[in-house]
Amino acid sequence: MADNKVRIGFIGCGGIANFHFGHYDNNKIPEAQITAVCDLIDERAQKAATRFGATPYKCWKEMLDKEQLDAVYVCVEPCAHTGEFGGMELAAIDKGCHLFVEKPVALDLAYAKKVLDGLTAKKLIHGAGFQDRYIDFIPTMKGWLDHSKVGFFNAYWVGGMPGVWWWRRRDTSGGQAVEQTIHTFDMCRNMFGEVVEVSAFGRRGIIDDVDNYDTEDASAVNLKFANGVIGTVYSGCFVRGGGGKNGMDVYTMNGKLVYNERTDLTITEPHRTITCKVGNDFGQDEDNAFIDAILENDQSIIISDYYQAYKNLELTLAANESMDNHGKTIYLNQDLVADK
Ligand SMILES: NC(=O)c1ccc[n+]([C@@H]2O[C@H](COP(=O)([O-])OP(=O)(O)OC[C@H]3O[C@@H](n4cnc5c(N)ncnc54)[C@H](O)[C@@H]3O)[C@@H](O)[C@H]2O)c1
Repeated sequence: MADNKVRIGFIGCGGIANFHFGHYDNNKIPEAQITAVCDLIDERAQKAATRFGATPYKCWKEMLDKEQLDAVYVCVEPCAHTGEFGGMELAAIDKGCHLFVEKPVALDLAYAKKVLDGLTAKKLIHGAGFQDRYIDFIPTMKGWLDHSKVGFFNAYWVGGMPGVWWWRRRDTSGGQAVEQTIHTFDMCRNMFGEVVEVSAFGRRGIIDDVDNYDTEDASAVNLKFANGVIGTVYSGCFVRGGGGKNGMDVYTMNGKLVYNERTDLTITEPHRTITCKVGNDFGQDEDNAFIDAILENDQSIIISDYYQAYKNLELTLAANESMDNHGKTIYLNQDLVADK
């Protein structure tokens, strides 16, 4: 660490990288410095380099070779973790860099497992981009659900189609469940634990006016958790002009919980209502936690780690597999099932 600052390199300087850049701007995290940035698109690397006084690169291999980095952020599109220009996580681990990887951490589960094993073997600090875990009322939500008899839930990521080129194809984005609704699946796992059965249906053909479009317009994924909870997660990217819904409705014996994604929480019991609005900058807190964990050498500071990201990828890829096989049940985490 130079001047006791954590030296950071970014691979990918697009949309989500700029979200993280905002948390390092104006010395918001004085213990860290972005010293190198890399993107296949020159202007993006140049712009980020100018913003932070960092060195721009087009090739991450060159960046990792030339720079002395303590930590690396990987903010590339889902398909770019592997393939011709991929493999950056394993190379960064090889150099002993701590790692923050945006979700979905890959489309290839075997590759993600190698990364997870590498991080664990080298005892490196790792974070992943499920920032909703840092929302201040999540412990309230989880605490209430832990003390409730949950019947079932419905959860949603329903809206329009993101504009980035790679989103519209399954082979580049993973499809909506893997790329977008993965945040919702993560919230479900955060609330209810591991999923043991997945059965899903998707439909296509609603969106017929987007070139090169090749993914589900809508899907419904039934989940059964190891603790017995059941629920359905809906994805839809066909909604235009409003009318979408992101979040979760949980029905319990003692009341109903409604979570509006990244906005608020309402718990309605027979004789009282609990309401919470998001009161923190949870994206900032996510990046603060990454740097604190590095400085303290304490992985437990991180709420959203690569392991959780790996499990979310496993779950959403299972949903795709089920969709591709007429709703076939996919079994996961069978070691958690008592009566196998
Ligand atoms: N956590 C969140 O809320 C959130 C929000 C948006 C996007 N994301 C995720 O972040 C990732 C990136 O999304 P985005 O919206 O920033 O995409 P983007 O297309 O805006 O940016 C990706 C950038 O990565 C660069 N890139 C790709 N391969 C590269 C390589 N080998 N070397 C260097 N640069 C490379 C591309 O040139 C591009 O500039 C996706 O996985 C997406 O799911 C997360």
